[in-house]
Amino acid sequence: MQLQKLFSEHDALLVASPDYNGGYTAMLKNAIDWMSRPIPEKVSGLALFANKATAVISASPGPMGGIRSMLAMRGVLEKLGAVLIPQTFTLGLAHQAFIEDGQLGNSVVEGEVKAVGAALVRFCGALRAA
Ligand SMILES: Cc1cc2nc3c(=O)[nH]c(=O)nc-3n(C[C@H](O)[C@H](O)[C@H](O)COP(=O)(O)O)c2cc1C
Repeated sequence: MQLQKLFSEHDALLVASPDYNGGYTAMLKNAIDWMSRPIPEKVSGLALFANKATAVISASPGPMGGIRSMLAMRGVLEKLGAVLIPQTFTLGLAHQAFIEDGQLGNSVVEGEVKAVGAALVRFCGALRAA
C-alpha cells in the first residue's frame, strides 16, 4: 500500500484533523486501521507505528477546536505503539481563522501551531539519536 510505504520512509507523524461531532473522522480512522494491517513483506503494519514520533492537532467550527477528537486520536495512536509528544494544538472557530491566501489570520495562533511542529522535529531528532 502506498501510504504504508510513505509511513515507512518517515520518522515522524503529524495528524491534523477536523472534529466531527466530538470524534475523529471515520475516514481518518479507516486509513489508520488499514495502515495497521500486514505490509507486503508479511511484516505487521504495527511496525510502522512503533516508536514513531507523533503529534496530533485538530480544528472545529466550535469554540473547543475539536479537543475531544484530538484526545481520542492520541489514544488510538498510542495503542498502535506511536510515541506521542505532549505538545498539542486545537483551532477553534476554524471557519473564521483563515484569510484569503489560506494562511492563519492571527500570528499568535500561527506561532502556537508552528511550535507543535518544531517540538515534533526536536523530539524526532532526540528519538533517532537515542
Ligand atoms: C456534517 C457535519 C457538519 C457540522 N457542521 C457544524 C457547523 O456548521 N458548526 C458547528 O459548530 N459544528 C458543526 N458540526 C459539529 C462539528 O463537527 C464539531 O463537533 C463541533 O464544532 C465541535 O465543537 P467544539 O470543538 O467546540 O466542541 C458538524 C458536524 C458534522 C458531522
